[in-house]
Amino acid sequence: MRPLLRTGFEYVERGADRIFQPQLNPLVQLGALGFFLFWIVAVSGIYLFIFFDTGVVGAYTSVEAMTHTQWFAGGVMRSFHRYASDLMVVVLAVHMLREFALDRYRGVHWFSWFTGVPIIWMLYASGITGYWLVWDMLAQYVAVVSTELLDWLPIFGEPIARNFLAPSSLNDRFFTLLVFMHIAIPLILLFIMWVHILRISRPKVNPPRGLAIVMLVALVAVSLWKPAVSQGPADLSKVPTNVGLDWFYLPLYPLTDLWSHGAVWALLGGFTLMLAMLPWLPPFRRPKAAVVELAHCNGCGRCVEDCPYEAVRLVTRTDERPFLQQAQVDWALCASCGICVGACPSSTPFRRTAGLKTGIDLPDFPLRTLCERTESTAAALTGPGRVLIFACKHGAGAGRASDTVEVPCVAMLPPSLIDYVISRDLADGVVVAGCAERACYHRLGGAWTKQRFARERDPYLRTRVPRERLTTIWASPTEQHGFAKALADFTTAIATLPPNRPVAIDRLTTSAIETPELSEEVVP
Ligand code: HEM
Ligand code: SF4
Ligand code: SF4
Repeated sequence: MRPLLRTGFEYVERGADRIFQPQLNPLVQLGALGFFLFWIVAVSGIYLFIFFDTGVVGAYTSVEAMTHTQWFAGGVMRSFHRYASDLMVVVLAVHMLREFALDRYRGVHWFSWFTGVPIIWMLYASGITGYWLVWDMLAQYVAVVSTELLDWLPIFGEPIARNFLAPSSLNDRFFTLLVFMHIAIPLILLFIMWVHILRISRPKVNPPRGLAIVMLVALVAVSLWKPAVSQGPADLSKVPTNVGLDWFYLPLYPLTDLWSHGAVWALLGGFTLMLAMLPWLPPFRRPKAAVVELAHCNGCGRCVEDCPYEAVRLVTRTDERPFLQQAQVDWALCASCGICVGACPSSTPFRRTAGLKTGIDLPDFPLRTLCERTESTAAALTGPGRVLIFACKHGAGAGRASDTVEVPCVAMLPPSLIDYVISRDLADGVVVAGCAERACYHRLGGAWTKQRFARERDPYLRTRVPRERLTTIWASPTEQHGFAKALADFTTAIATLPPNRPVAIDRLTTSAIETPELSEEVVP
C-alpha cells in the first residue's frame, strides 16, 4: 500500500510543481503550513475573544453581533478562524500520509510520528470545544453527543450531560470553563507541536512568503464568499434536528446514532493505538549509528551543522589532542545517513592514514568501503565517456547496474571524493543522483550537496574540478524516464569532451589536503 501511496503523491506533487513552482509547492511545505495555520487561528481567535461574551445568553448574541454588525472585521475573523482550523485538519492528514508514504515514520523518525498522534487529538479537542462556544444548534448537538460520549467513560463520577446540559443547570460558569479549555487545549497543542520537531535540525516551520500570501488571500476569499454563520440559538428544551455538520471536525458524530458509544470509543482507541504503534509494525532494523574516531576529529563542528536529526553535538575534549572539543553521536537519534561523513574535513581519499579513517564514520558502510567501491566500479567502466554514478538509495538511481555506487544519501559523498575520481582519471564524468528535490529522504542531503558543489558550504568542491564533468540529477524512483534521459544526455556530452587527464601527482599532494594538522600520511 505504501509504494502505491508514494507513487500517488509523486504524481500529484509533480502536477503541483507545475502549478505553484517547485519552491511554493504546498505539498512540500505541509509541516510549515501547519504551523502557519496555527498562528492564523491563534491571532483570529484572540480577536474573537475580545468581543466574545462568556455567558449562556451572551455567547450566542456576541458571536451573532460579530458576524453581522461588524462583518467586515469580526465576521471575516470568525470565518478566518473557522476555515484556517478546517484547513489545518486537511494539512495534518496529508502531512501524515506523506510522511508515511515517504517511509519517514520508522527508525529514528518514530519520535515525530509518535508525537504526531497526540497532535491529532489536541487539534480535534480544540476544534470541538470551539464549536461549543458559539452556543447555536450545532453547538448544542456537539455538546450533547460529546458529553454522552464522555459519560460512557468511567472517568467522571457524575454524568456531565445531566449535571451541566440541562436547561436548569447550564450556567455562565460552565461557559467560562469551556473558554478556558478552548484556550488551554491549543496551548497544549502548540507545546506538542514544538516537541514534535525537537529531533529535527532546522525544521521548516515557516512557509515561503509567496505561499503564505497565497494561503491568506485564499482564506479571505473563502471567508467573504461563504462566511461562517451560526445555526440558530441553542435551546436545551428541544432536541436539535437537521444541523449542518462540519465534516472536518465532526465526521464521527453521526456514527453515534448508529453505533453504541462503546463501539465509537473502540474505533477511536483502536485507530490511535494502531497509528502510535505503526513505527514498530513490523520492527525496523536500524543500521548502526555513526561513530566518532577521535584521532581524526578536530572538533570543527561541521558534522553538527550538517546532521539533519540533531544526532551529533560537540563536547569537551576527552583525549590529549590540542583541540577544545570533539564530536559525540547520540546513537538513538542517528539515522545513519552518512551526511556527517561527507561533511568531515578528514573524509578525504587523498589522505591515506591506515585504512582511510575519518573523524566520523558509518560502521555498516564506512568511508573506506565507499572509496573502495568507487575505485572498483570506476575500474569496470569502459569508454568513451566513462560515467560513474553515485546514487542515493532512495532515488531514481538506486538498484542500478555496474556503473553505480549506491550511498545512503548523496551528501555522504565528501566533495574531495569527486575531485579524486576526476583528478585521478578514474572516470571521465561523475553523476550525483539524489532523490527528488521536493522529497529528500534525509531532509537536507540534497540542499547540502548543492551548496557544497556551489562552494557555498564547507567542505567545498575544489575549483579545479572541471564542472562540465560533473552533473547532478534529482529524481524519485518513479521518475525513471527523466533520470534515463538526463543520464544519456550527460554521457553523450562527456563523450564529446577531450579525454580526461590525471592531475599531476605533485599538484595532488600539495593542494588536496584540507586540514594538514590531521593528515598524518598522504598517498597521492
Ligand atoms: C498540525 C499538526 C502538525 C504540524 C504543524 C507538523 C509539523 C511538522 C514539521 C514542521 C515537520 C518538519 C518538516 C521538515 O522540516 O522536514 C514535521 C515532520 C514530521 N511530522 Fe509533523 N506536524 C503535524 C502533525 C503530524 C502528525 C499528525 C504526524 C503523524 C502522526 C506527523 C508526523 C511527522 C513525521 C513522521 C515527520 C518527519 C520527521 C523526520 O523526518 O524525521 N506530523 N512535522
Ligand atoms: S549519520 Fe551522521 S548526519 Fe546522519 S543522522 Fe547520524 S550523525 Fe547525523
Ligand atoms: S566534522 Fe569531523 S572533524 Fe569536525 S567535529 Fe565532526 S567528526 Fe570532528
